[in-house]
Order: sequence, then structure tokens, then C-alpha cells
Amino acid sequence: MATSETVKPYNDQAAKKEQVADMFNNISGTYDFLNHFLSLGIDIIWRRKAIRTLKAANPQYLLDVATGTGDFALEALRILKPKKIIGVDISAGMLEVAREKIARRNLGDRLEVVLGDSENLPFADNTFDAVTVAFGVRNFENLEKGLADICRVVKPGGKVVVLEFSKPRHFPVKQLYRFYFNRVTPFIGKLFSKDRRAYSYLPESVEQFPDGSRFTDILRHVGFSHTVCRPQTFGICTLYIGTK
Ligand SMILES: C[S@@+](CC[C@H](N)C(=O)[O-])C[C@H]1O[C@@H](n2cnc3c(N)ncnc32)[C@H](O)[C@@H]1O
Repeated sequence: MATSETVKPYNDQAAKKEQVADMFNNISGTYDFLNHFLSLGIDIIWRRKAIRTLKAANPQYLLDVATGTGDFALEALRILKPKKIIGVDISAGMLEVAREKIARRNLGDRLEVVLGDSENLPFADNTFDAVTVAFGVRNFENLEKGLADICRVVKPGGKVVVLEFSKPRHFPVKQLYRFYFNRVTPFIGKLFSKDRRAYSYLPESVEQFPDGSRFTDILRHVGFSHTVCRPQTFGICTLYIGTK
């Protein structure tokens, strides 16, 4: 069976991490448009739902791992009104788009983005009240290592909130989803994006990702407790929560 190490964007010798960074650099210009278009806008609802799970905890220092073009962090800033959010990502191209948005909205004092790797986060232990990852964990080269380092930088009692695509299990959503994700998404992706491979890597990486209870098992293994797994929209996406 494929593991998260074996499904890579391109068929070359480079490590998954390098290939993922290259791929997101290639698609950064069309990423936001295709994201909302291909998900029919549902991703916006998933993102808000994920962020609202943190409302009661009222986190003041947040880290958004795999922040990409910054949409999740910007929405978290709007909903949670924390003192500071730091976004970290391995793709300089995606961060460039995020920086433009932050500058346009004049939010530089509350949202900062930095180049960095989830598996070796440039922060001290127990720094953040909460860490979020939206549609990022599937791309980690070493999932367990990435989640362990996230656990390291969360304060004791702090939360991790993860959103990721998952595989619907039941007829007819399972079949419809397969068709949409395996046929429609790569076709539209090829039309609009500069990278022909990016939108066929997407269903492949979702297919091999350890979703549902397999993912919460890993969260517990790296040090989180009180784990929660909440499938969204017939299981197309899943929201995971853990407490350190
Ligand atoms: C599908 S995008 C998600 C972006 C954003 N969170 C969102 O919700 O739109 C995945 C992002 O994960 C980043 N990424 C992948 N592996 C990473 C790693 N090891 N460390 C940090 N970022 C990573 C990619 O560069 C990309 O920007």
C-alpha cells in the first residue's frame, strides 16, 4: 500500500517535500480561484466551522501550519480576533500571495507568514495556544514527524485543529466523489493551472491518506488527547481536533 512518503507530485528522484514546494510554487497564482471553484465554495464553510471550534478556548497566539496563500489564517483572524497569528509554509510562492493579501488589508502587525517546515518548526516548545492546519497534513513528507513537532510547539492544554480531505464511505457519494475527484478535478485543474500534475496528485494523495480513526490514532501517538474526528459533507472532508 502507498504511504504518505510514496505518493509524490512528480515522478522524479527529489524528496516529497521539495516536490510539494515546487508544485505549490507552480500553482500559487491560480490556487485560490481553483480551490473555491473546484469545491463549489464548500471549503469556505468547512474552514469557518473548523475555526469556530476554537472560539471557546479564546486562543491569543496561533500558528497556522501549511498556511499557503493565507486564507485560513485571515479567516481565523477575523473570527477569533487573537493577538497574533503566524503562518508557516514551505512554498515561497504561496507565501508571496499571502503577503500581498496581508499588505492590502494592512494586517502586518497581527498576521505574519514565514518560510518553514512543519517537521522542523522554527519555534520554541510550548509557544502557541492553538495550531491549525487546513489541507496541509496530506502533503507532509513525514506525517508523524510533522504532527509531533506541532505538538511540541503547542502549550499544554492547547489545541490542534486539522482539516483534511477524506474518503466518503457510502453509496452514492463515494462513487460521485470518485468520479468528480479522479476525472473532473484533474481536467479543470489542467485547464486553469500551469501545473498539469497538481490536480491528479490531489486525488492520489487523498486516496493514500490515513483518514478517520487512523489519523486520530496518530494524533494520540504523538501526544494529543481528547481527540475528535468529525466528518463534514458526507465525509468529503474531516475535521480533527486534539488537546495537548
Ligand atoms: C493545499 S495547500 C493549503 C493551504 C491553506 N492552508 C489553505 O487552506 O488554503 C497545502 C500547503 O501545504 C504546504 N506544505 C506542504 N508540506 C509542508 C510542510 N512540510 N511544511 C509546511 N508547509 C507545507 C504547501 O506548500 C501548501 O502551501
